[in-house]
Amino acid sequence: MAESLIIDANLSKEEKYKALLPQIEALTAGETDLIANISNMVAALRQGMGFFWVGVYFNKEGQLVLGPFQGPIACTRIPYHKGVCGACYTQQKTILVPDVEAFPGHIACSSDSKSEIVLPAIKDGEVKLVLDVDSDKLNDFDEVDQKYLEQLMTLVENWY
Ligand code: SME
Repeated sequence: MAESLIIDANLSKEEKYKALLPQIEALTAGETDLIANISNMVAALRQGMGFFWVGVYFNKEGQLVLGPFQGPIACTRIPYHKGVCGACYTQQKTILVPDVEAFPGHIACSSDSKSEIVLPAIKDGEVKLVLDVDSDKLNDFDEVDQKYLEQLMTLVENWY
């Protein structure tokens, strides 16, 4: 297992993703425990990309329930029809929100959160979890984040 991440802070966002994704794959390759792998994945994302908040919500008990995350404390349970995470769950696709204030029903776990991207991991037609990444800056996510985080979600789907 890799002992530490190697990400040059001077790289562009795309270069950081390109350096980080293989390291996450290597970090999780020898481990079969889902929570252990998701824990290291979100820690690596926080450390490598410098995200304000990054974590997962599991589809369980008829709602979305907080799982491993890095960042400020967060809401623990989100109904399927609520917030950006709920929209990601019901639409089964990535939701990119440049300004959370402009998203109807957005759930403000932290008033510092200004933009976010939420992506589903889908197995056998069912959303197993959503990955939520929040920024304290407006308009902080784009198609580069979407491309590489969606690649990461295919890795997560293989853990199921
Ligand atoms: N903002 C999310 C809720 C989760 S937190 O931001 C960590 C939403 O609207 O679904």
